[in-house]
Amino acid sequence: MIYSRIIGSGSYLPRNVVTNDDLARRMDTSDEWIRSRTGIRQRHIAEAGETASSLALEASKAAIASAGIAAGDIDLIIVATSTPDYIFPSTACLLQAKLGIKGGAAFDLQAVCSGFVYALATADLYIRAGQNRCALVVGAEVFSRILDWNDRGTCVLFGDGAGAVVLRADDKPGIMASALHADGSHAGILSVPGSVCGGKVTGDPFLRMDGPAVFKFAVRVLDEVARETLAKCGQRIEDVDWLIPHQANLRILESTAKRLGLPHEKLIVTVDRHGNTSAASVPLALDLAIRDGRIKPGHKVMLQGVGGGFTWGAVLVQM
Ligand code: ACO
Repeated sequence: MIYSRIIGSGSYLPRNVVTNDDLARRMDTSDEWIRSRTGIRQRHIAEAGETASSLALEASKAAIASAGIAAGDIDLIIVATSTPDYIFPSTACLLQAKLGIKGGAAFDLQAVCSGFVYALATADLYIRAGQNRCALVVGAEVFSRILDWNDRGTCVLFGDGAGAVVLRADDKPGIMASALHADGSHAGILSVPGSVCGGKVTGDPFLRMDGPAVFKFAVRVLDEVARETLAKCGQRIEDVDWLIPHQANLRILESTAKRLGLPHEKLIVTVDRHGNTSAASVPLALDLAIRDGRIKPGHKVMLQGVGGGFTWGAVLVQM
């Protein structure tokens, strides 16, 4: 039987840190409002020359180094992003070239804030099917480029960054189970309803959100999909060592842990420092907790995504 295991991780954040007080100097908001509603204290914002592929490159180099492999061993790259460098070629192809490798499969996956969980579950299936042996799975975003900086209700919530893992074929799991879902009938509660047509932007090129609707939806589906994933591999909630939900907002994270009956100490939180980095949030949090020694070999980690589409999903990983 072939399984897949995470053998290395990496992450990267732009150097430019923007605090709530910095935002309060530019718009009608306050550190108190942002912190009490979302838990966010600061976020990293990409400089002009930084793109999803350049952030992805730094995270990937760190993941490859920690895996102890050569870039040339990678035969599959999946980049989860909603803020690609170009319409095409894919950010995954640009990343492949920046890594100096060629020949393996490379494609982007668009599931907004569920993107990394979707990409990890997809790469696992490629490896388990015997199609590929070594996958680089990345979440990379420059959400600052699709924010309306005049809309204080959304622009304070997000940040930029990238996280990556190397997933390799193994004879034991690894990825224990995954579940992915979508319901496009909720597209309107979180979207960037614009496109490029005839050389012009048509529609609205900025992120729009019904905050309270997103909140209610996210808490419900994160609870359901965690239980579904555990049931698929015969595990119980008590078996989970760490919970890493998509880092949208501290209140969503805490409500999810509470509904699942998991103590606060098992929740990995980065939203306070990173803001919501969409597809990058889960691999950023995973890498941080591996590097600071909280997540150890053998630990079972529940990764969860929820985002525009609406999409949601979970992957249970044994490290
Ligand atoms: N600073 C100060 N005041 C603000 C700000 C701001 N940045 N943004 C909105 N307000 C004001 C509003 O104008 C409104 O004022 P009014 O009552 O005078 O009209 C008031 O604050 C309340 O606005 P609400 O939108 O009702 O605020 P709410 O308490 O619902 O909090 C929030 C908004 C934080 C977005 C909340 O709905 C939420 O957490 N939603 C979850 C959505 C989320 O986390 N999205 C992330 C992306 S989605 C994802 O990743 C899955």
